[in-house]
Amino acid sequence: MQAHLVTLPGDYIGPEIIAQAVKVLEAVARRYGHRFTFDERKLGGASIDAFGVPLTEETLAACNAADAVLMGSVGGPKWDDVEPARRPEKGLLALRKGMGVFANLRPCTIHPQLAGACPLRADIIAKPIDIMILRELTGDIYFGKRWRAEDRKAATDEMAYSEMEVERLARIGFEMAKKRRGKLCSVDKANVLECSRLWRETVQRLAAQYPEVEVTYMYVDNAAMQLILRPSQFDVMITGNLFGDILSDESAAIAGSLGMMPSASLGSGTRGLYEPIHGSAPDIAGKDIANPLGTILSGALLLRHSLGLDAEAAAIERAVSGVLDEGYRTADIAAPGTKTVGCIAMGDLVAARI
Ligand code: IPM
Ligand code: MG
Repeated sequence: MQAHLVTLPGDYIGPEIIAQAVKVLEAVARRYGHRFTFDERKLGGASIDAFGVPLTEETLAACNAADAVLMGSVGGPKWDDVEPARRPEKGLLALRKGMGVFANLRPCTIHPQLAGACPLRADIIAKPIDIMILRELTGDIYFGKRWRAEDRKAATDEMAYSEMEVERLARIGFEMAKKRRGKLCSVDKANVLECSRLWRETVQRLAAQYPEVEVTYMYVDNAAMQLILRPSQFDVMITGNLFGDILSDESAAIAGSLGMMPSASLGSGTRGLYEPIHGSAPDIAGKDIANPLGTILSGALLLRHSLGLDAEAAAIERAVSGVLDEGYRTADIAAPGTKTVGCIAMGDLVAARI
């Protein structure tokens, strides 16, 4: 097949990890006879430096004309003093909003080869862990009104959700749960927040239409604790933007390294935005030590969810697993007895296995 992809390397380690993911996607194209074209654009700090804004209208239009978008990471100390409205992160938020990708899939599984990197006790991870965190991505406190007092001594961030926003996200969660282990946990703070009460009522109403799915409701503070105490109890978790941001970092720690974690952000069609869940890691940028596997695995999600190439996606996942089996590790997941390789070498190893 023929597919047109936009890449947004972004800042610091972004270009290094995106180069490895592109290398692997090109290997897939060669092996399976596809033609992928890559259109590289600037996002975040790189865009601020070049154009004065973190996301240009032209870049957004290019993303919305592509079959899918693969992003690295944005932000870093260089742009910390930029006014809030033009910060690199604003570019990412505007991109998510502008592409209408309201559903953020953040899978959490422990690669068996990395079980040693999981900080939880062996008996806690003895049962398999396979969680899909489904985070709402274009609403919540991320996009509410903000206010700062003139004397700078008080501030407000508004949390807002509409029934429509909750419903379209929850439906994806129910559909996923049906195809997985049939369990859905809706995470909120309905004992305090009105947005969460709306969230819970909406999920409860939909639950009646999915009798085959077992639904539970959990307050976010308890969910944060349960993820550590008994992570195997979860199948699909649905939650709002802010809670999902926090819980997905927590789940990444369970998986062993933030560097391993891919994500997919989808809207109503097949076009999606794919990115590792980690940040731009300024401290290790340019040293060829970043872990490209989260980005490479995001490429696999891109093939599966935007291009419908399931076998090719599985080939990338198998290749990653194979390279880990052979004992190769980037520094963040290295352990006694493993072979530490750099970012580029890791990309080469995965591409070679395709
Ligand atoms: C993430 C990140 C972003 C978020 C930041 C960089 C704006 O933490 O994708 O989880 O909070 O959504
Ligand atoms: Mg985050």
